[in-house]
Amino acid sequence: MGMKIGIFDSGLGGLSVLNEALSKLSEHEFLYYADVKNVPYGQKSRDEILKFSFDAVKFLIENGANAVVVACNTATSVAIKELRANLSVPIIGMEPAVKKAHDLSHNDALKTLVIATPVTVNGAKLKELITNLNAKDKTELLALPRLVNFAEKAEFESENVKSYLKEELGKFDLSKFDFLVLGCTHFNYFKDSLREILPPNVSIIDGNEGTIKRLISELKLQISSANLTPNVNFFYSGDEVQEQSELERISRNLARLEKMRAIS
Ligand code: DGL
Repeated sequence: MGMKIGIFDSGLGGLSVLNEALSKLSEHEFLYYADVKNVPYGQKSRDEILKFSFDAVKFLIENGANAVVVACNTATSVAIKELRANLSVPIIGMEPAVKKAHDLSHNDALKTLVIATPVTVNGAKLKELITNLNAKDKTELLALPRLVNFAEKAEFESENVKSYLKEELGKFDLSKFDFLVLGCTHFNYFKDSLREILPPNVSIIDGNEGTIKRLISELKLQISSANLTPNVNFFYSGDEVQEQSELERISRNLARLEKMRAIS
């Protein structure tokens, strides 16, 4: 039986998670909620993020979602426990794929750099994850809030983007790292520019595949590679997106993310 799966992000970063979901679960129906009125979350207070997250997830449940993926590391960091404790459907969160980097790393001398929003970088959840993996000495964190604004403006490859990335990543000796973890779904749009800047010894890891795998196992879904026309309704902060120009923008973003998917 087809499920209705809600996917929620502060904006259009979570389309990278939707894209991954569509590649494996195209027989299901999706509701995508972008909280465009309140993006970016990464520099808001925890109380605000908690309220926005409840509004979004409740909206998805009221509109028939049988499960919700919080396709936002920032909202997960702040709100996942409360959402799960208070709402009645399975809720899958998303956290920086530090564990994946840890499992893949074969060289103890090399480190992982996690890039995320300020709220995620400063939050207890990521710190706990790193401590539990015993990876404190091997992990550096860097907040890149401007990337969220660039992504929302569909400014993916400009000189401003490139010089921002060069300047921020230039603060680290990248020859000492083997992984760059994308700890914010919006950062998937910039994989090509990141790849250009990073030395070849650094691989890029995102959390999209792991998140959809968890959705599949929690809901006991069957993976299907059938290439069906996606069945997705898009919402901007509770209003269904109907304007052709906005739907085209979403399609352009999904097409870009499909290209970025192969970059590692
Ligand atoms: N896409 C979000 C994340 O994964 C946050 C972007 C924001 O609103 O700051 O963290």
